[in-house]
Amino acid sequence: MIFKYQVDASVPEMAGRASTEFKTALKQLGVSPKVIRRISIAMYEGEINMVIHANGGEITCEVDESKIRVEMADSGPGIPNLDLAMTAGWSTASPEARELGFGAGMGMPNMKKFSDDMTVETEVGVGTTLTLGFNLT
Ligand SMILES: Nc1ncnc2c1ncn2[C@@H]1O[C@H](COP(=O)(O)OP(=O)(O)OP(=O)(O)O)[C@@H](O)[C@H]1O
Ligand SMILES: [Mg+2]
Repeated sequence: MIFKYQVDASVPEMAGRASTEFKTALKQLGVSPKVIRRISIAMYEGEINMVIHANGGEITCEVDESKIRVEMADSGPGIPNLDLAMTAGWSTASPEARELGFGAGMGMPNMKKFSDDMTVETEVGVGTTLTLGFNLT
């Protein structure tokens, strides 16, 4: 089963909508609350990053018997140094984003922590695609 969400960075109040909607879908599918919690936290972090660091994008969630995959693709600025971006506490968040409470530099480490596998494809000037995998068995 495939679920697709558009993430619109021009409406910051909408940030978090995709993760909330997918959470509802997973509940209806009967996925265990423990797994849903991990997915919601990780997907929310990725969705917010698409809004505050890029210009929005598209999230594709794939659910099958044994695995859930969440792919978050943007055509934002890309990440010049992925090791730094993965480091807890590292952030390039703007003053505006910090005012909204973002910028602790914990989103990427938390996505790693709450997923079973995480891959990041990124190119400066082209964009970033982050894929999170969650095992159901
Ligand atoms: N989609 C993205 N496009 C461009 N840069 C990104 C993207 N996602 C993350 N980054 C870069 O990686 C850094 C670390 O991201 P992370 O989510 O860990 O922290 P943050 O978003 O700055 O703060 P927090 O998530 O704690 O509110 C960001 O500050 C930014 O420089
Ligand atoms: Mg973040």
